[in-house]
Amino acid sequence: MPESQSKPRVVLGVSGGIAAYKACELLRRLTESGHDVRVVPTASALRFVGAPTWSALSGNPVSDRVWDDVHEVPHVRIGQTADLVVVAPATADMLARAAHGIADDLLTNTLLTARCPVVFAPAMHTEMWEHPATQENVATLRRRGALVVEPAVGRLTGADTGKGRLPEPAEIFEVCRRVLARGVTAPDLAGRHVVISAGGTREPLDPVRYLGNRSSGKQGYALARTAAARGARVTLIEANTGMPDPAGADVVHVGTALQLREAVLKAAADADAVVMAAAVADFRPAEYAEGKIKKREGQEPAPVALVRNPDILAEISADRARPGQVIVGFAAETDDVLAHGCEKLRRKGCDLLVVNEVGERKTFGLEESEAVVLTSDGSETPVPYGPKEGLADTVWDLVVPRLA
Ligand code: CTP
Repeated sequence: MPESQSKPRVVLGVSGGIAAYKACELLRRLTESGHDVRVVPTASALRFVGAPTWSALSGNPVSDRVWDDVHEVPHVRIGQTADLVVVAPATADMLARAAHGIADDLLTNTLLTARCPVVFAPAMHTEMWEHPATQENVATLRRRGALVVEPAVGRLTGADTGKGRLPEPAEIFEVCRRVLARGVTAPDLAGRHVVISAGGTREPLDPVRYLGNRSSGKQGYALARTAAARGARVTLIEANTGMPDPAGADVVHVGTALQLREAVLKAAADADAVVMAAAVADFRPAEYAEGKIKKREGQEPAPVALVRNPDILAEISADRARPGQVIVGFAAETDDVLAHGCEKLRRKGCDLLVVNEVGERKTFGLEESEAVVLTSDGSETPVPYGPKEGLADTVWDLVVPRLA
C-alpha cells in the first residue's frame, strides 16, 4: 500500500482572507505529524497564497476548480475519502456558501460530499463575524454537526483589533488532532457553555513578591482544548500560566484568588458546566504593602499574617447559577488519596472530583498524569497514567450524561 494511503487524509480548505498565509503553518504541522493533506483553496485564497506553495508544502496537486483532472471525479472523491476537512481561514462568504449548500467550486463540492468531521476556523472583521447573517450561518453549520471554532480576539488586518482573528495555527492543529483522534461527527458538547479555571493564583505581598503555587495550568488547558474540540463554547479563566490561548476559547486573565472568584461567578451565570482546575490559594496576606518590604539590619523579619480566601468551588456548588449545572472540582493529595478525595467531594458539594496524587515529580508541570474521578453518586473512574488530554476527555465523558 502506498504510504499516503495509510496516513489519515485531511482536506485543508482555504478561503480568501489575509489569514490564508497562516494556513501554510497549519499545513506544515499536519504533514509533519503524518497526515496526507490535500489543500483545496478557493479562487480568492489563491490571490493571497499561490498554488505552487500549497502544492510544494502538501506534496499533492492543488486546484480550486472542478474542471481539472475530471477523470478522477475530484469534486466527489476528495470529500468522500477524507478523514477530516478543516477550513482555515473560513471567510464570511465561505460560511454562507457552506451553510446554504452552494457548490460552485471544488471546496464547496468537497464540503457537500464529506461525511467525516468538518472543522471551520473563521477569520474576518468583527462586524462581519457579529452580523446576524454570519451568526445564523454559523448556527446552521453547528446544528448540522460541523465544529465552528470561535475566532480569537486580537489584531485584525489593518489597525483595528477585536474578535475575528484566526486562532494560532498550532492551536487549530490541536483541534484537528483531537477531532481526528475521537473520529466522531457529532460534537457532544455542541451548544453548551463550559467554564474552566486553570493555573495557580498569586497573592501579592508587596509590588514584587507574592505567595504562589506550582500549578502549570496544563490540565486546565487540556480541558479547554478538548471541550472546544467537542463543540463547546469555552470560557477559560487562567491565572498566571503564560500559555497561548487555545483555539475557540474566550480567555479571561486573572492574578489573585479574589479576581478568579469574580471571573468564575460572572462566567458561571449561564454555564452548563464549571470545572475548577485552578490551584486557588487558600490564604492571602492580610495586608498588601504598597512599597517593597525592605530588610532592616539587626531586625528579625516581621511575620506575615494571612487571611482565608473564599472557597469558590464550595460557593458555586452550594449556590448553583442554573439548575442542573454540573460542577467539577480537583483535589491534589499527597497521601491517603481516595479517603481524602471522598471527604472533599462531600465537603465541597460538587458533582465530580478529580483526585490527583501530587509530589515532587508527580502531576505539576508534567504533560502526563494519573487520577481517579469520583462522582457524588459514588462511582470511581480510574484514569491510567497518560496525557492530560486523556483525563480531560474522561471528565467530559462523565459530564455529558449529567448535563441538564
Ligand atoms: N478551590 C476553590 N477555592 C479555594 C480553594 C480551592 O475553588 N479557595 C478549588 C480548587 O480549584 C479545586 C478544589 O477546590 O478544584 C480543591 O482544592 P484544594 O486546595 O485541594 O482543597 P482544600 O479544600 O483547600 O483542601 P486542603 O487544602 O485541606 O487539601
